[in-house]
Formats: sequence, C-alpha cells, structure tokens
Amino acid sequence: MFKLKDIHKAYTLGPMEVEILKGVDMDVKKGELLAILGSSGCGKSTLMNIIGFLDQPTSGRYVFDGKPAEGLTDNELSGIRNRKIGFVFQQFHLLPKLTALENVCLPLLYRGVPAGERAERGREVLSKVDMIDREHHRPGELSGGQQQRVAIARALCGSPSLILADEPTGALDTATGNEIMDIFLSLNDNEGVTIVVITHDPGLAIRCKRSVRMQDGKVVGQ
Ligand SMILES: Nc1ncnc2c1ncn2[C@@H]1O[C@H](COP(=O)(O)OP(=O)(O)OP(=O)(O)O)[C@@H](O)[C@H]1O
Ligand SMILES: [Mg+2]
Repeated sequence: MFKLKDIHKAYTLGPMEVEILKGVDMDVKKGELLAILGSSGCGKSTLMNIIGFLDQPTSGRYVFDGKPAEGLTDNELSGIRNRKIGFVFQQFHLLPKLTALENVCLPLLYRGVPAGERAERGREVLSKVDMIDREHHRPGELSGGQQQRVAIARALCGSPSLILADEPTGALDTATGNEIMDIFLSLNDNEGVTIVVITHDPGLAIRCKRSVRMQDGKVVGQ
C-alpha cells in the first residue's frame, strides 16, 4: 500500500530547527490493520499527515501505491487524497448544520456525483456503521460514539483503499471505543480496507493485526 524510507520532518521555530521525525521506516501492505502507539508529542500525527499527503517530509522517500510521492503533480496528490484515502479524527470534524447523511455524502458532492447516487451510497455506508436510523440527525443530536460512526461512514463513502484514523477513540469511553474498533476490524476483515490507526490505548492496539511504537522520532518494534 505504502512505504516510508528514512522520513525526516523538522519544524523551524525562529532560529531553532526542531527535528520531530528522525528517520521513519515503515512498510504497510494492502489489507493490513496497523496500530501506531507512542507518547504524546512524539510525532504520530505529524507522521499520519505525511502518510495522508496533508504535509510533506523534510527528506526521505515515500512511495504510495507503487508511485514515488515526489514525482506526483498537485493534481495527482489531491486525487489520491480525495479518492484513495479516508480520514477519521479524534474530534469527528462533522459539519454541525448538516444531517448525518449530508455529512457522509459530502466527499461525493465534491466529486460531482449526482444527488440520487450520493444518497444511495450514503445510506449504504451509514448501514455499515449501523447508523441508518439516524440519517436525518445533526451531529449535535448524536452521542460521541454515534458521531464517530458517521465520521467513519464519511471516510468510507468514497470507497478509499486506505483509512487513516488519528486517535479515533480518544474522545470516547472504553466501551464505545471498543465498538469503534469493532467497526474497523470488520471493515478490514470483510472489505479488505487497509487501516492505520493511531491510539494511546494498548488494549485497542492489541486487537490490531500489527502494532508499532514511535519513539525518539523513529518507529520501533515493527
Ligand atoms: N506546525 C508545527 N510547527 C512546529 N512544531 C510542530 C508543528 N506541528 C507539530 N509540532 C511539534 O511536533 C511534535 C509532534 O507533534 P504531533 O502532533 O505529531 O504529536 P503526536 O504524537 O500526535 O501527539 P499526541 O499524542 O498528543 O496527539 C510536537 O512536539 C509539536 O509541538
Ligand atoms: Mg496526535
């Protein structure tokens, strides 16, 4: 699915350069369910943003779907971001004025998919996360766990090959977090979606097929 080789990322703060990623190597195959663990501030989100083409490394080699990232045009990059990758965040990031179904369909609206087809696909993915009976609810009328289910449906709507989840259970209690993990496990098992999930919770990481830990700007324990 993707490969990272000797990825470095440094931020310049005034006269100081702070290196956050210090040579990350990672090889994620199609169909994997990988957990990334690591203490707060160690660079997990920074790495995730690079994997998701939301940010660029300072140096290193990134190959996605067999193509080196440095050779991709801006158009190709946004194409990958929009079509191949689905994002799930800790704070759900749903639009408060839209219903669950409208939130879920939004990525398809941007792609110019006709309304009828959008709604059909939206209901299909809402069913997958067991939220079809809440399609007309707005985020404020849903629990945290339900909002995260809708956010997962939105990530799924465009049929991505990779889902990147940055602490998707961080704002949820343990039981609800486990239910969200159940959804990821089933998507991975039944639909073969490759999933990378950042978590602080070793109990969730252990349910993934593989887990790695970030430490000192590198990935250890592959
Ligand atoms: N735009 C930025 N400019 C400067 N420093 C940054 C920037 N973004 C992140 N950092 C620094 O990079 C480090 C890693 O941040 P990152 O968000 O990747 O950590 P994290 O592992 O995801 O932490 P958490 O578990 O708390 O989410 C932090 O020390 C942070 O201050
Ligand atoms: Mg983070």
